[in-house]
Amino acid sequence: MDAKVISAAERRAQVQLDAASIGIDEDFISDLVDAFYARVRADQQLGPIFDEVIRDNWDAHLAKMKLFWASVALNAGLYSGRPMDAHRRLSGVEPRHFSLWLELFRSTLDDISPTPAVRLYFVERAERIAQSLQLGMFGAPGVPR
Ligand code: HEM
Repeated sequence: MDAKVISAAERRAQVQLDAASIGIDEDFISDLVDAFYARVRADQQLGPIFDEVIRDNWDAHLAKMKLFWASVALNAGLYSGRPMDAHRRLSGVEPRHFSLWLELFRSTLDDISPTPAVRLYFVERAERIAQSLQLGMFGAPGVPR
């Protein structure tokens, strides 16, 4: 068997190369997070949900979200948090808010992605994470949590 065992550092370097080869880097992630949350804050339904929790700590939230996306997209390993707990604590969030969140995320990417591949890279990951957050928050239809 010649399966190659690779170290975490090698894996991280590979993910970063793959991401860089389609044009994803920390600058793009920073722009994406800034542009996306500007739309979230301006949204009549999502804005108040975020503002109620984040209040005047938006700078810290944006910085955290940049580390989160760098960990997801670049395997940067700089985010350590508990997204499931953070979302389970929220009140008044329903599945329709997730649809809206994803709609805003997609339309932000439509406007700023350098290529369709970059858009797809982030959309696929956001949809997967949104799905797992929703399973944790609302359960699967017909299946108790
Ligand atoms: C309806 C959809 C969503 C709403 C209303 C929402 C709202 C929030 C709020 C208010 C916070 C701040 C929590 C706090 O500081 O205690 C937060 C944190 C966070 N959100 Fe969301 N979110 C949504 C969807 C998502 C999705 C789809 C993702 C990932 C793709 C995501 C990733 C995160 C992460 C990583 C944090 C930081 C958690 C931490 O470490 O403190 N959220 N979200």
